[in-house]
Amino acid sequence: HTPELTPTDKAPECAIAVDVLRATSTIATVLAAGGEAVQVFSDLDRLIAVSEEWPPEKRLRAGERGGAKVEGFELGNSPLDCTSELVQGRRLFISTTNGTRALQRVQDSPNVLAAALINRAAVVQFVIEKQPETVWIVGSGWEGSFSLEDTVCAGAIAHSILEKTHLSPEELAGNDEVISAIALFSQWQNNLLGLFHQASHGQRLLRLHCQEDLEYCSQTDVLDVLPIQQEIGVLKKG
Ligand code: MLT
Repeated sequence: HTPELTPTDKAPECAIAVDVLRATSTIATVLAAGGEAVQVFSDLDRLIAVSEEWPPEKRLRAGERGGAKVEGFELGNSPLDCTSELVQGRRLFISTTNGTRALQRVQDSPNVLAAALINRAAVVQFVIEKQPETVWIVGSGWEGSFSLEDTVCAGAIAHSILEKTHLSPEELAGNDEVISAIALFSQWQNNLLGLFHQASHGQRLLRLHCQEDLEYCSQTDVLDVLPIQQEIGVLKKG
């Protein structure tokens, strides 16, 4: 079971979308706090049209572009705003710059998961129990570019799978992406917040005064929640 960082063209049996800062951290938080589901959109107009069909008391709209909240939406993309008082029993309709697009990119896989550092253990547990033939770990990055925070999370997931299945790192020989992701995680695992401070999107969020989001998202294994796609674009607690 070789985790890959970069997708090839065939849908894998299991696709793990990662946007640590902050979309998949927010998705995990909403489901852990009792949200009914999270429905993801790349397009804001489509989000508005679909969510209009839901009673206002059963829905929440979250929109982020460039790190900032979209005008007219109840929420931006801060996981800290997703309290259980607010999200309990409601569906979150969300569109973000990169994270929700990464989820859409892999939506044809039979097992689509949303992973962040905060719910890593639940995702790893799923992979170990399910034993999918192929696993992709898809980092969202920033507008097509590499990102440190998603790569370190991919490394955290792969590292934990290797550890728990007693596979030797040599099993990964030839998979340059996952070997470098694990190396990044090994170097920074005790200072993930420090890594976020160096990351380009971490710096963008700091400029937007989101220091607390960085702190929250840098925690590992604190939420036992598995966001898994139930129908195209709709994630629920697995
Ligand atoms: C994204 O989808 O690009 C991110 O989640 C941006 C953010 O930090 O809100």
